[in-house]
Amino acid sequence: MAGAARFRFAVRTMARIGILTGGGDCPGLNAVIRGIVRKGIREYGHEFVGFRYGWAGVLANEAVELTNESTRGILHRGGTILGSSRTNPFKIDGGVDQVRDAMQARELDALIPIGGEDTLGVARRLVDEGVNVVGVPKTIDNDLAGTDFTFGFQTAVQIATDAIDRLHTTAESHNRVIIVEVMGRHAGWIAAYSGIAGGADVILVPERPFDLDDVCARIQRRHEGGPTFSIVVVAEGATPKDGDVVSEFSGTTDAFGHVRLGGIAVELEKAIEARTGYESRMTILGHVQRGGTPVAYDRVLGTRFGVAAVDAASEGDYGKMVALRGTEIVRVPLTEALAEPKLLDPKLFETAEVFFG
Ligand code: F6P
Repeated sequence: MAGAARFRFAVRTMARIGILTGGGDCPGLNAVIRGIVRKGIREYGHEFVGFRYGWAGVLANEAVELTNESTRGILHRGGTILGSSRTNPFKIDGGVDQVRDAMQARELDALIPIGGEDTLGVARRLVDEGVNVVGVPKTIDNDLAGTDFTFGFQTAVQIATDAIDRLHTTAESHNRVIIVEVMGRHAGWIAAYSGIAGGADVILVPERPFDLDDVCARIQRRHEGGPTFSIVVVAEGATPKDGDVVSEFSGTTDAFGHVRLGGIAVELEKAIEARTGYESRMTILGHVQRGGTPVAYDRVLGTRFGVAAVDAASEGDYGKMVALRGTEIVRVPLTEALAEPKLLDPKLFETAEVFFG
């Protein structure tokens, strides 16, 4: 085992723990940070440092002490008080050594990274390098396996649903087809939930490549039956059956090799109007879905995850991710959670389809 020796400490022994938030920000991150720090200080007498901007802060050893005082008043705040970035230490020469050096310099016994597939993917690889890690799952996309829900998802769904409600009234006033693009790189969870809640007439998700003729036929059928407007909800990662992911930013990738998405609604607006003859407009919700106040559900889930993560670290139960299974918080191996993305439940999509045009 290279580098930092695995350090197991018994329950109720004081330890120093580093926290970081990586990847796209997400409503509820501050609830997790607060949960970890409050439980950790109150129950175990731990000390905490928060690395700035995800793994970038670990590499640069840029951190702040986290205390009861510094985590007060943050529960309802969106974003992350620590900042975030998409940084991959495994893409940087000597990156893993820099992580170990930062932990040694700060006298840390363990790390609690809060992130999605990329941030926790780094965490999983660090476990193999002997670093003590407990992960917390985060993503508005809800596409992490091992957990029924990630915090941030319900907030994003509520924001998208509110937007669809508003777009409904303007679509109806102008007899238009409105295409609403929501986030969802690999999975259509936000599209399906907000589409069902908002009464969408068509929902397009990455899991089911779509046929444009079929989409237009559904809209036409609906309009022939009386309605004069339609709402199409499309996930940014949805693809046509005979085409690629459409992105306005083609060629741009992040440190984890993900293509920057966004823009399929632009193409759909043109194609639907040309094929159906119905006036069409598109709206891309984009980062609005990640911003602002977390809904109560995400504050509670984030708090439960934070408290459970510090318990796991205090027991030395490393290499795990805290997760929601049913109504219980459990621990699952990071390897299991990261094996595959969690795609949309086909039964949920079938329920959505009942209401399609
Ligand atoms: O992973 C969450 C997510 O919100 C995706 O749905 C989206 O494609 C991506 O992040 C956007 O990332 P960025 O903020 O780096 O543009």
